[in-house]
Amino acid sequence: MFNVISNELLAENLHKMVISAPRVARARKPGQFVIVRLAPGEERIPLTIGDADAQAGTITLFIQAIGASTQKIVATPAGGALRDVAGPLGKETHIANWGRVACVGGGVGTAVLFPLVKALAGAGNRITTIIGGRSSRYIILADELAPLSERLLVTTEDGTLGSTGFVTGPLQEMLADPERAPQAVFAVGPVPMMKAVAELTRPHGIETVVSLNPIMIDGTGMCGGCRVQIGGATKFACVDGPEFDAHLVDFDGLSDRLSSYRKEEAARHAATGC
Ligand code: FES
Repeated sequence: MFNVISNELLAENLHKMVISAPRVARARKPGQFVIVRLAPGEERIPLTIGDADAQAGTITLFIQAIGASTQKIVATPAGGALRDVAGPLGKETHIANWGRVACVGGGVGTAVLFPLVKALAGAGNRITTIIGGRSSRYIILADELAPLSERLLVTTEDGTLGSTGFVTGPLQEMLADPERAPQAVFAVGPVPMMKAVAELTRPHGIETVVSLNPIMIDGTGMCGGCRVQIGGATKFACVDGPEFDAHLVDFDGLSDRLSSYRKEEAARHAATGC
Protein backbone atom coordinates (compact mmCIF):
# COMPACT_ATOMS: atom_id res chain seq x y z
CA MET A 1 0.00 0.00 0.00
CA PHE A 2 1.13 3.55 -0.73
CA ASN A 3 0.11 6.12 1.85
CA VAL A 4 -1.37 9.46 0.87
CA ILE A 5 0.58 12.17 2.71
CA SER A 6 -1.48 15.13 1.48
CA ASN A 7 -4.26 15.87 -0.96
CA GLU A 8 -4.90 19.44 -2.03
CA LEU A 9 -7.40 20.89 -4.52
CA LEU A 10 -5.40 23.17 -6.87
CA ALA A 11 -8.07 24.10 -9.39
CA GLU A 12 -11.45 22.80 -10.50
CA ASN A 13 -11.11 18.97 -10.59
CA LEU A 14 -7.33 19.18 -10.25
CA HIS A 15 -5.68 17.68 -7.18
CA LYS A 16 -2.08 17.69 -5.98
CA MET A 17 -1.42 14.47 -4.08
CA VAL A 18 1.81 13.64 -2.27
CA ILE A 19 2.28 9.88 -1.98
CA SER A 20 4.78 7.87 0.01
CA ALA A 21 6.65 5.78 -2.59
CA PRO A 22 10.33 5.70 -1.54
CA ARG A 23 11.71 3.48 -4.31
CA VAL A 24 9.93 5.44 -7.04
CA ALA A 25 11.06 8.74 -5.48
CA ARG A 26 14.70 7.60 -5.52
CA ALA A 27 14.67 6.22 -9.08
CA ARG A 28 12.47 8.68 -10.98
CA LYS A 29 13.77 11.03 -13.65
CA PRO A 30 12.00 14.01 -15.26
CA GLY A 31 9.46 12.95 -17.87
CA GLN A 32 8.68 9.58 -16.30
CA PHE A 33 5.30 8.42 -15.00
CA VAL A 34 3.66 5.88 -12.72
CA ILE A 35 0.55 3.74 -13.12
CA VAL A 36 -1.76 4.04 -10.14
CA ARG A 37 -4.50 1.65 -9.09
CA LEU A 38 -6.72 2.55 -6.17
CA ALA A 39 -7.71 -1.03 -5.31
CA PRO A 40 -7.67 -4.52 -6.86
CA GLY A 41 -9.98 -4.64 -9.88
CA GLU A 42 -9.90 -0.87 -10.38
CA GLU A 43 -8.70 0.86 -13.57
CA ARG A 44 -4.97 1.50 -13.99
CA ILE A 45 -4.32 5.23 -14.41
CA PRO A 46 -1.04 6.60 -15.87
CA LEU A 47 0.12 9.79 -14.11
CA THR A 48 3.23 11.87 -14.70
CA ILE A 49 5.49 12.18 -11.67
CA GLY A 50 5.20 15.92 -11.11
CA ASP A 51 7.92 16.08 -8.50
CA ALA A 52 9.76 13.85 -6.05
CA ASP A 53 11.61 14.13 -2.76
CA ALA A 54 14.10 11.26 -2.56
CA GLN A 55 14.95 12.02 1.08
CA ALA A 56 11.35 12.10 2.24
CA GLY A 57 10.53 9.15 -0.03
CA THR A 58 7.56 10.92 -1.61
CA ILE A 59 6.32 11.67 -5.10
CA THR A 60 3.90 14.39 -6.16
CA LEU A 61 1.10 13.63 -8.60
CA PHE A 62 -1.18 16.18 -10.25
CA ILE A 63 -4.45 14.43 -11.00
CA GLN A 64 -7.28 15.75 -13.12
CA ALA A 65 -10.48 14.07 -11.94
CA ILE A 66 -12.34 13.61 -15.19
CA GLY A 67 -13.50 9.99 -15.02
CA ALA A 68 -14.88 7.55 -12.47
CA SER A 69 -11.45 6.13 -11.56
CA THR A 70 -9.63 9.46 -11.18
CA GLN A 71 -12.54 10.79 -9.12
CA LYS A 72 -12.16 7.84 -6.75
CA ILE A 73 -8.38 8.36 -6.52
CA VAL A 74 -8.67 12.07 -5.65
CA ALA A 75 -11.34 11.23 -3.08
CA THR A 76 -8.65 9.43 -1.06
CA PRO A 77 -7.78 11.78 1.83
CA ALA A 78 -4.44 12.28 3.58
CA GLY A 79 -3.99 9.23 5.79
CA GLY A 80 -5.61 6.96 3.20
CA ALA A 81 -3.72 4.70 0.79
CA LEU A 82 -3.50 3.61 -2.85
CA ARG A 83 -3.11 -0.09 -3.64
CA ASP A 84 -0.53 0.18 -6.45
CA VAL A 85 1.95 2.81 -7.61
CA ALA A 86 3.99 1.12 -10.35
CA GLY A 87 7.01 2.85 -11.80
CA PRO A 88 8.90 4.85 -12.68
CA LEU A 89 7.86 4.08 -16.27
CA GLY A 90 8.78 5.60 -19.62
CA LYS A 91 11.96 7.23 -20.81
CA GLU A 92 13.45 10.19 -19.03
CA THR A 93 13.50 13.57 -20.76
CA HIS A 94 16.65 14.36 -22.73
CA ILE A 95 17.93 17.43 -20.89
CA ALA A 96 20.66 19.63 -22.38
CA ASN A 97 21.64 23.27 -22.28
CA TRP A 98 20.09 24.70 -25.44
CA GLY A 99 20.30 28.31 -24.23
CA ARG A 100 16.86 29.81 -24.80
CA VAL A 101 14.00 27.36 -24.37
CA ALA A 102 10.25 27.86 -24.59
CA CYS A 103 8.09 25.60 -22.43
CA VAL A 104 4.42 25.61 -23.37
CA GLY A 105 1.68 24.10 -21.20
CA GLY A 106 -2.05 23.89 -21.84
CA GLY A 107 -4.53 23.12 -19.05
CA VAL A 108 -3.50 20.13 -16.96
CA GLY A 109 -0.55 19.64 -19.35
CA THR A 110 1.13 22.35 -17.26
CA ALA A 111 1.49 19.77 -14.48
CA VAL A 112 3.37 17.45 -16.84
CA LEU A 113 5.48 20.39 -17.97
CA PHE A 114 6.51 21.35 -14.43
CA PRO A 115 9.23 18.68 -13.88
CA LEU A 116 10.63 19.42 -17.35
CA VAL A 117 10.92 23.15 -16.59
CA LYS A 118 12.60 22.31 -13.30
CA ALA A 119 15.15 20.03 -15.00
CA LEU A 120 15.77 22.46 -17.88
CA ALA A 121 16.33 25.32 -15.45
CA GLY A 122 18.73 23.12 -13.48
CA ALA A 123 20.73 22.58 -16.69
CA GLY A 124 21.18 26.34 -17.10
CA ASN A 125 18.58 27.06 -19.80
CA ARG A 126 16.90 30.46 -19.94
CA ILE A 127 13.25 29.54 -20.05
CA THR A 128 10.19 31.35 -21.25
CA THR A 129 7.23 29.45 -19.87
CA ILE A 130 3.87 29.99 -21.54
CA ILE A 131 0.84 28.48 -19.80
CA GLY A 132 -2.79 28.76 -20.77
CA GLY A 133 -6.29 27.55 -20.12
CA ARG A 134 -9.92 28.28 -20.81
CA SER A 135 -10.11 30.75 -17.90
CA SER A 136 -8.16 31.77 -14.80
CA ARG A 137 -9.67 28.77 -12.96
CA TYR A 138 -7.64 26.45 -15.18
CA ILE A 139 -4.27 28.17 -14.73
CA ILE A 140 -2.15 26.06 -12.45
CA LEU A 141 1.36 26.10 -10.95
CA ALA A 142 2.08 29.70 -11.98
CA ASP A 143 3.69 30.43 -8.58
CA GLU A 144 5.87 27.32 -8.82
CA LEU A 145 6.93 27.94 -12.44
CA ALA A 146 7.70 31.66 -12.08
CA PRO A 147 10.99 31.30 -10.10
CA LEU A 148 12.24 28.66 -12.58
CA SER A 149 11.51 30.83 -15.62
CA GLU A 150 13.15 33.93 -17.05
CA ARG A 151 9.64 34.95 -18.13
CA LEU A 152 6.25 33.47 -17.34
CA LEU A 153 3.44 34.33 -19.75
CA VAL A 154 -0.19 33.43 -19.12
CA THR A 155 -3.01 33.25 -21.63
CA THR A 156 -6.70 32.55 -21.11
CA GLU A 157 -9.33 32.07 -23.76
CA ASP A 158 -11.81 34.32 -21.94
CA GLY A 159 -9.24 36.95 -20.90
CA THR A 160 -9.77 36.44 -17.14
CA LEU A 161 -5.99 36.20 -16.59
CA GLY A 162 -2.99 37.25 -18.67
CA SER A 163 -3.50 37.93 -22.35
CA THR A 164 -6.60 36.79 -24.18
CA GLY A 165 -6.13 33.90 -26.59
CA PHE A 166 -4.12 30.72 -26.87
CA VAL A 167 -0.58 29.78 -25.79
CA THR A 168 0.43 29.77 -29.46
CA GLY A 169 0.09 33.59 -29.58
CA PRO A 170 3.12 34.45 -27.38
CA LEU A 171 5.09 31.58 -28.94
CA GLN A 172 4.45 32.99 -32.41
CA GLU A 173 5.73 36.39 -31.24
CA MET A 174 8.90 34.77 -29.86
CA LEU A 175 9.54 32.92 -33.10
CA ALA A 176 9.20 36.14 -35.10
CA ASP A 177 11.84 37.92 -33.02
CA PRO A 178 15.42 36.74 -33.69
CA GLU A 179 16.48 38.17 -30.30
CA ARG A 180 13.98 35.97 -28.45
CA ALA A 181 13.52 32.92 -30.68
CA PRO A 182 14.08 29.72 -28.69
CA GLN A 183 16.57 26.99 -29.61
CA ALA A 184 14.22 24.31 -28.32
CA VAL A 185 10.52 24.07 -27.48
CA PHE A 186 8.74 21.69 -25.09
CA ALA A 187 4.95 21.49 -25.29
CA VAL A 188 2.43 19.52 -23.23
CA GLY A 189 -1.33 19.84 -23.41
CA PRO A 190 -4.33 18.92 -25.51
CA VAL A 191 -3.52 17.27 -28.85
CA PRO A 192 -4.70 20.24 -31.00
CA MET A 193 -2.44 22.55 -28.96
CA MET A 194 0.64 20.34 -29.37
CA LYS A 195 -0.10 19.98 -33.09
CA ALA A 196 -0.39 23.78 -33.43
CA VAL A 197 2.95 24.26 -31.64
CA ALA A 198 4.61 21.70 -33.94
CA GLU A 199 3.29 23.50 -37.02
CA LEU A 200 4.58 26.85 -35.71
CA THR A 201 8.12 25.62 -35.07
CA ARG A 202 8.43 23.32 -38.10
CA PRO A 203 9.27 26.06 -40.65
CA HIS A 204 11.97 27.37 -38.28
CA GLY A 205 13.54 23.91 -37.83
CA ILE A 206 13.47 24.35 -34.04
CA GLU A 207 13.80 21.14 -32.02
CA THR A 208 10.35 20.57 -30.52
CA VAL A 209 9.40 17.92 -28.00
CA VAL A 210 5.88 16.92 -26.98
CA SER A 211 4.70 14.57 -24.22
CA LEU A 212 1.90 12.33 -25.51
CA ASN A 213 -1.07 11.07 -23.53
CA PRO A 214 -2.55 8.09 -25.41
CA ILE A 215 -4.72 5.45 -23.77
CA MET A 216 -2.49 3.27 -21.58
CA ILE A 217 -3.27 -0.05 -19.94
CA ASP A 218 -0.24 -2.04 -18.79
CA GLY A 219 2.47 0.61 -19.22
CA THR A 220 5.06 -2.01 -20.12
CA GLY A 221 4.85 -2.28 -23.92
CA MET A 222 2.75 -5.48 -23.86
CA CYS A 223 -0.83 -4.41 -24.64
CA GLY A 224 -0.30 -2.03 -27.56
CA GLY A 225 -2.95 0.35 -26.22
CA CYS A 226 -0.63 3.34 -26.29
CA ARG A 227 0.65 2.91 -29.85
CA VAL A 228 1.35 6.09 -31.78
CA GLN A 229 2.77 6.75 -35.22
CA ILE A 230 6.10 8.57 -35.13
CA GLY A 231 7.68 9.33 -38.48
CA GLY A 232 5.63 6.51 -40.04
CA ALA A 233 6.79 3.92 -37.48
CA THR A 234 4.67 2.46 -34.69
CA LYS A 235 5.93 3.33 -31.24
CA PHE A 236 4.58 2.63 -27.78
CA ALA A 237 4.33 5.80 -25.71
CA CYS A 238 4.81 3.87 -22.44
CA VAL A 239 8.23 2.46 -23.31
CA ASP A 240 9.45 4.52 -26.29
CA GLY A 241 8.07 7.82 -24.90
CA PRO A 242 6.03 9.52 -23.62
CA GLU A 243 8.10 12.30 -25.21
CA PHE A 244 8.66 12.43 -28.96
CA ASP A 245 9.89 14.75 -31.70
CA ALA A 246 6.79 16.86 -32.36
CA HIS A 247 7.59 17.16 -36.07
CA LEU A 248 7.28 13.39 -36.51
CA VAL A 249 4.06 12.77 -34.54
CA ASP A 250 0.83 11.75 -36.31
CA PHE A 251 -1.42 13.97 -34.17
CA ASP A 252 -4.57 13.17 -36.20
CA GLY A 253 -4.11 9.45 -35.59
CA LEU A 254 -3.58 10.12 -31.88
CA SER A 255 -6.81 12.16 -31.75
CA ASP A 256 -8.73 9.34 -33.42
CA ARG A 257 -7.44 6.77 -30.95
CA LEU A 258 -8.18 9.02 -27.96
CA SER A 259 -11.80 9.38 -29.08
CA SER A 260 -12.26 5.59 -29.55
CA TYR A 261 -14.23 5.15 -26.31
CA ARG A 262 -16.21 8.43 -26.30
CA LYS A 263 -19.53 6.62 -26.83
CA GLU A 264 -18.89 4.18 -23.97
CA GLU A 265 -17.70 7.02 -21.69
CA ALA A 266 -20.84 9.05 -22.48
CA ALA A 267 -23.05 6.02 -21.80
CA ARG A 268 -21.32 5.40 -18.46
CA HIS A 269 -21.59 9.08 -17.56
CA ALA A 270 -25.32 9.00 -18.33
CA ALA A 271 -25.76 5.85 -16.24
CA THR A 272 -23.55 6.69 -13.26
CA GLY A 273 -23.07 10.45 -13.35
CA CYS A 274 -19.28 10.08 -13.41
FE1 FES B 1 0.36 -1.13 -23.10
FE2 FES B 1 1.92 0.91 -23.70
S1 FES B 1 0.31 0.86 -22.27
S2 FES B 1 1.87 -1.06 -24.64
